[in-house]
Amino acid sequence: MEGPTVGMERFKAYGARVGVWLQGGLDLSVRMKVVVGPDPSLVYRPDVDPDVAKDKGSFRNYTSGPLLDRVLATYKLMHTRQTVDFVRKKHAQFGGFSYKKMTIMEAVDMLDGLVDESDPDVDFPNSFHAFQTAEGIRKAHPDKDWFHLVGLLHDLGKVLALAGEPQWAVVGDTFPVGCRPQASVVFCDSTFQDNPDLQDPLYSTELGMYQPHCGLENVLMSWGHDEYMYQMMKFNKFSLPPEAFYMIRFHSFYPWHTGGDYRQLCSARDLAMLPWVREFNKFDLYTKCPDLPDVDDLRPYYQGLIDKYCPGVLRW
Ligand SMILES: [Fe+2]
Repeated sequence: MEGPTVGMERFKAYGARVGVWLQGGLDLSVRMKVVVGPDPSLVYRPDVDPDVAKDKGSFRNYTSGPLLDRVLATYKLMHTRQTVDFVRKKHAQFGGFSYKKMTIMEAVDMLDGLVDESDPDVDFPNSFHAFQTAEGIRKAHPDKDWFHLVGLLHDLGKVLALAGEPQWAVVGDTFPVGCRPQASVVFCDSTFQDNPDLQDPLYSTELGMYQPHCGLENVLMSWGHDEYMYQMMKFNKFSLPPEAFYMIRFHSFYPWHTGGDYRQLCSARDLAMLPWVREFNKFDLYTKCPDLPDVDDLRPYYQGLIDKYCPGVLRW
């Protein structure tokens, strides 16, 4: 295990890298790097634990200047192009899970490999966040091995990036399509005006195409790594409890789990699940702990969990 000082140095290097990625533009040549890095929403997000972001230079200075412009540009694309029609097409495109066959660990490694290929200077594997999230959960919930695995799995849907999907259709906060976006959606006031659904007499209302309290399971969410990974887990029949599926499906739905919006769509089940999503979210914010886990030491433990809950070669 590396000490905290080394960890913080690498962490700072990572923060600098994020800035470079996000300022690098959104064209195809740099898209992979951006996609497999942290969600732009997380970099932008002002609720980074101040206790942990001890080195103020590491993240907080990205809340203004060119990075903010770039993040805003990403959300502008997302909020313009994520429509009911778009999301349905993506479900059809990826719902057959004929993109690739691989194990969970191969998916973890694959995202790392992509970063390395794109930029040989990157010394910070993408799996760091997965293992760190998992280890945080393991420490706080030692008796719930399935929850540890959720930490490892939650961002693997970012393999969508390998299928050529643009950043705005892979990462970032999610929101329901088919109804008017609510106030806590990030950049809500400045990014939706060109979304054709908001010209639709039904989709532009508060309830939109939904019944009151229909349950989030019946809501069409913007397309990204959450929904894709949830569908993939269902398709491959992961033997994890419903809470695990739920946390992965809605972990980026900040306007709901943190913003407190979209309550009119929630069922009693959603409200019962909300504490789980919030609990998970505590560990998802990678800035919480400057210690880097020794990934090679941890692999055997997580391989055991994979063998228990989602073994073998899976369809992606
Ligand atoms: Fe995520």
